[in-house]
Amino acid sequence: MIEQLFWDIGCVWLSFLILNNNSFSFSTVLFISVVYIAWLILSTSSLSISSHQKSAIIMANQENGSLPNFILPDSLYTETIREVHSAVEHDWDSLRQSACQTAAGRALWKHVIHDPLAEFLAGETYLKKLYEKIKKDVLNNAREISGVIIAVRTLWFDKRIEAALTSFDGGGAQVVILGAGMDTRAYRLSCLKDSNIFEVDFPEVLQMKTAIIEAATETTDEQKHQLMIAKSLNRVAADLREKDWLEKLQESGLKLNKKTVWVLEGILYYLSHSNAMDVLKIIANNCTSAHTVLLADFMNKQSTTMSSSNFHFYSDYPDQLLPSLGFSDVELSQIGDPDAHFGLLHDPLNLFNKLRNLPRSLQTHPDDGTPCCRLYLLKASGEPPNQTML
Ligand SMILES: C[S@@+](CC[C@H](N)C(=O)[O-])C[C@H]1O[C@@H](n2cnc3c(N)ncnc32)[C@H](O)[C@@H]1O
Repeated sequence: MIEQLFWDIGCVWLSFLILNNNSFSFSTVLFISVVYIAWLILSTSSLSISSHQKSAIIMANQENGSLPNFILPDSLYTETIREVHSAVEHDWDSLRQSACQTAAGRALWKHVIHDPLAEFLAGETYLKKLYEKIKKDVLNNAREISGVIIAVRTLWFDKRIEAALTSFDGGGAQVVILGAGMDTRAYRLSCLKDSNIFEVDFPEVLQMKTAIIEAATETTDEQKHQLMIAKSLNRVAADLREKDWLEKLQESGLKLNKKTVWVLEGILYYLSHSNAMDVLKIIANNCTSAHTVLLADFMNKQSTTMSSSNFHFYSDYPDQLLPSLGFSDVELSQIGDPDAHFGLLHDPLNLFNKLRNLPRSLQTHPDDGTPCCRLYLLKASGEPPNQTML
């Protein structure tokens, strides 16, 4: 504003002098210099204000874990990895592609999730798409940054898997990951060092994952074994909509009488109601003779409306559903709860806190009529209740 005023006055005076003298006198040159210097000082100080504001924003962002921490990896792909991802983009349906989208979330939230393989498994396209969303969120001062749900959900499952294995009190356990997608826990969780891991997904998803991990690590068999933290890893190609997936797991070495953690992360809502219920019933009915922990996330009804083509199964009260199927010790958390926060939701007015403070029966927000989309994180025990009491 002020520099504009200087400039305008200067221009008027200069025109006046030129019109009167028709030549540049010493006073004219002096005047131009003064106006220019004044303009320079003012514009420099205003520049320094904006860079100060900018660094304040960067500092604030660093505090709440936003953009400066989100790094789009430099091109780290070999020709093989590019080819595999090109096939994923062209040949896979959105159900299978969801595996790479989730990996992109973990790759870009790497400042809180240590998953070095995630950026290879995600692929450039999904990484860039999510990065653009994050950038927009940061510029718009959004209360929640894209991908935060994946970050919180991953950390919640990590923590709960570790707690479950600790509660088993030693001894080798099994961890079964249904709809494993690009999950790399076998490579990144030290608590799995004595556990046998079973990953279940469609054959092409598991093949792609194996190919990418091999290409990304490019190591000998011996080194590959060292890269893996888990005691063993079995990839089991199966369709959870079919009746034979448990049989396939058993053929691959799963023992139903051994302590087992079942990990159902980002999978149930991709199944139809009857398929999802069947999966839960099969787990409940086959885990009566050993310690079993079920970890699963559930969407409520409103959340499934976000993608009518992909999301089907929902439960508004999974904490009531699981006991009705035979699970006990059910614990329910929502994103933003003390155990599902991980310091990633700083703004007290964030969407998740707003939802947590509303009765769960509400389907729309009373203030603005927006749908109450909730993601529930559930931990349950597979032991029958009377066995727990003994
Ligand atoms: C959103 S991804 C989640 C992957 C992984 N659990 C994670 O959190 O990163 C969903 C995964 O479920 C798999 N999936 C969906 N329907 C399935 C089915 N009927 N049988 C086996 N896997 C399925 C998809 O292929 C995909 O890998």
